Amino acid sequence: MTTATPRPTRIVQDGLEHVWIHNASHAFLKQRAGLRVFTHGRGARMWDIEGREYIDGMAGLFVVNAGHGRAEIGQAMAEQAAKIAYVTAAVYTTDTTITLADTIADLLPGDLNRLFFCSGGSEAVESAIRIARQVQVMRGFPRRHKIIARKGSYHGSTFGAGSLSGWSEAHLGTPMVGVIHAPNPNTYRPVFPGLSGEADDLACANVIEQEILFHDPENVAAVIAEPISVANGFQVPSVAYWRRLREICDEHGVLLIADEVINGWGRTGTWFAIEHYGIVPDMLTMAKGLSSGYAPIGAVAVRDRVFSVFENSDESLSHLITFGGQAVACAAALKNIEIFRREGLVQQAAENGTYFKAQLEELRLHPILGDVRGEGMLIGLELVRDRAKKESFHGGHPFHRRIEELFDQKRLYCRGSSVVRLGPAFVATRAELDQIVQIVDEVLTIIEDEFASDIVA
Ligand SMILES: Cc1ncc(COP(=O)(O)O)c(C=O)c1O
Repeated sequence: MTTATPRPTRIVQDGLEHVWIHNASHAFLKQRAGLRVFTHGRGARMWDIEGREYIDGMAGLFVVNAGHGRAEIGQAMAEQAAKIAYVTAAVYTTDTTITLADTIADLLPGDLNRLFFCSGGSEAVESAIRIARQVQVMRGFPRRHKIIARKGSYHGSTFGAGSLSGWSEAHLGTPMVGVIHAPNPNTYRPVFPGLSGEADDLACANVIEQEILFHDPENVAAVIAEPISVANGFQVPSVAYWRRLREICDEHGVLLIADEVINGWGRTGTWFAIEHYGIVPDMLTMAKGLSSGYAPIGAVAVRDRVFSVFENSDESLSHLITFGGQAVACAAALKNIEIFRREGLVQQAAENGTYFKAQLEELRLHPILGDVRGEGMLIGLELVRDRAKKESFHGGHPFHRRIEELFDQKRLYCRGSSVVRLGPAFVATRAELDQIVQIVDEVLTIIEDEFASDIVA
């Protein structure tokens, strides 16, 4: 083992040889020698090992809400590690874990007062499934095991969460038994012919009720949905949609789970996105912005009326996550929330989000820009080859790879091609937001030029 700092090219090569980049084609990374290795960041900017500066247009993966380079979070973690880092979540907890649970419960709507901690979003969803199924059994409904999710959604990559995700069956094999998929509201391409807006949203909610009735309420444990669906292309449903979902679930004894792994922690301009809808879900999953990425931590918040079956029971939850409530991760989350409060970051996300979206709307002059959607610092740009017909570029079209290449060349980190996903840190300055808009403008201009013969202007 050597202590000398390896030369950048060596590190990049080692990275290509040894690190499994989760979601990229390794052949592609190698061919374009395109593994980006980052060494530091500040606010909405980050620098790679070659010294190139990038603007982080997606706060990592909608994670680094408080921005890069917050040394005080590191200090809080170091102090906690020096005191105590770990006790088993199976039977013990720490004072820091309790303080975090209490702090989160204060910020959550309604009686979402009980926190089950885990290490990330997939585990939060996985835990919510386990809790829903066991709660139904303990309430006297042993057959209630089915979960309704929505087509095109994403709830994580562990087996249960991956089964709920509406797109991941290609390599999943047989998904978890008992998953039902219903349509997701879509403001751009309404689901039902002749309907749009609230009427279409309500029709989508009513399909969920039809599915519950078809499968028999006695078999259905829960419905899970993102309040504002990112995977489905930044779909913001009407207030009536979520109110109807709440009504349907109450009527049929089904638990309603709001997946706020991305939506939560200020992303949509409120602490939690469900606040836009004025209802209280039975469970709410969170991760990402909870620690702004400084430590891997997630949680399921559970309503008192749901947890109550455990309150006076000899039975415990048949579920355990070794790192649930790990004290150093909790210290990171607590300091992150303190920063949010001190700097008014949720308000900043709302204000910056309004500004950012207005600037992006100006790009509608581009014929390729079909729609601008989202809420707060969570915005998607839908790109189409034929705006009148709302027709996308087909899956294998070179447009998809080219646009990602162009963003990389211009040093804007963001993802997606059919729907370009944007969501910088809340601390991004107006100048940085303008810079993102300018790069998107330049990239769209180049794309429209290079693929002019494919685009219907
Ligand atoms: C809505 C939603 N739920 C769950 C997850 C899974 O979270 P994680 O990647 O932390 O496991 C994600 C990840 O992006 C997500 O967007």
